[in-house]
Amino acid sequence: MEPTRTVSIIGTGSYVPEKVLTNQDLAKIVDTSDEWIHSRTGMRERHIAAADQATSDLGTEAAKAALADAGIDAEEIDLLFVATLSPDMFFPSTACFVQDKIGAKNAFCYDLGAACSGFLYSLETAKNQIACGAAKTALVIGAEKMSTFIDWEDRSTCILFGDGAGAAVIQAGGEGRGIMQAAMGSDGSLANLLWTPGGGSRNPISHEMIDQRQHYLKMQGREVFKHAVVRMAEAVNQALEKNNLRADEIKCFIPHQANIRIIDAIVKRLGIAGRVYTNVEKYANTSSAALAIAMDEAAKDGTIQQGDLVALTVFGGGFTWGANVLEWSKS
Ligand code: ACO
Repeated sequence: MEPTRTVSIIGTGSYVPEKVLTNQDLAKIVDTSDEWIHSRTGMRERHIAAADQATSDLGTEAAKAALADAGIDAEEIDLLFVATLSPDMFFPSTACFVQDKIGAKNAFCYDLGAACSGFLYSLETAKNQIACGAAKTALVIGAEKMSTFIDWEDRSTCILFGDGAGAAVIQAGGEGRGIMQAAMGSDGSLANLLWTPGGGSRNPISHEMIDQRQHYLKMQGREVFKHAVVRMAEAVNQALEKNNLRADEIKCFIPHQANIRIIDAIVKRLGIAGRVYTNVEKYANTSSAALAIAMDEAAKDGTIQQGDLVALTVFGGGFTWGANVLEWSKS
């Protein structure tokens, strides 16, 4: 295969499980209220997967929708990523389970771990694999069953997350500039501000670890908030600069859907009011699925159209962050 420069999204899809958990429902589980949650986060409800649905099941539904949108068969996929922090199991990868469920038998598959930034990291990695000729058609999925990894006794975290999946099919070629240059970064020195400390090789599964609830997500919310605002705003500016673009040329900004106040603070820093897509009210924070779901909804409801310039930005555990700009080439 010849190296190619332009790589474009040719289809998107998303899926959220049927069950809706409202703020009022949460107030029956922990000491909280609709007013507290909505005013601090912008969230009203989130979707929760059924007991028999694993992350790969959610990812499979989003993948099927993206393939249908792209109008291609699963066998055309030669690279498949799942970005997730809630895999079906430690190994094999959730990507391999999705591959089997959709019949993408010609793909090589792996998971990508960048917490909530995973979908943008996967998009960037897949784009580069295609651009250098190592793959032709990639299926990139962000999928999370967060409900299994959050502590339903901790009101400071359990209100924030939801389950869901989003996917995009990307391919060489396309009209316009396609997926442009990304600006990405990480800072492992701040890992302890947002992590799941138990259950891995550092602190393996034991009765003691479970009694201490170390297998659940832990977060220093205020610290995460501050870093998220600074890093996402910086990354957007860097991505714009790399691609010789100005903020006023961007039709739609799609940020990680973690909290409306984080989004509002970024909007203020970048001066982009009125051009930001949000759906955090309906789904809460679906981690690596959030950007993918928002992008799919923005495409389907006509917010973004062929030829539009779209900026994406993410922030997550690690810390990890990034931004990218793309010219929407799908009609
Ligand atoms: N309901 C009612 N009260 C609550 C709740 C709740 N669900 N949670 C916390 N409180 C209380 C606290 O106990 C505290 O009470 P105290 O003052 O008596 O001690 C008070 O509310 C204030 O708590 P803070 O944590 O300081 O509240 P804050 O205004 O910072 O809001 C929040 C908390 C919403 C978590 C905020 O810090 C935030 O959004 N941070 C970013 C988190 C985030 O988005 N993380 C994900 C990004 S990366 C990724 O997606 C993985």
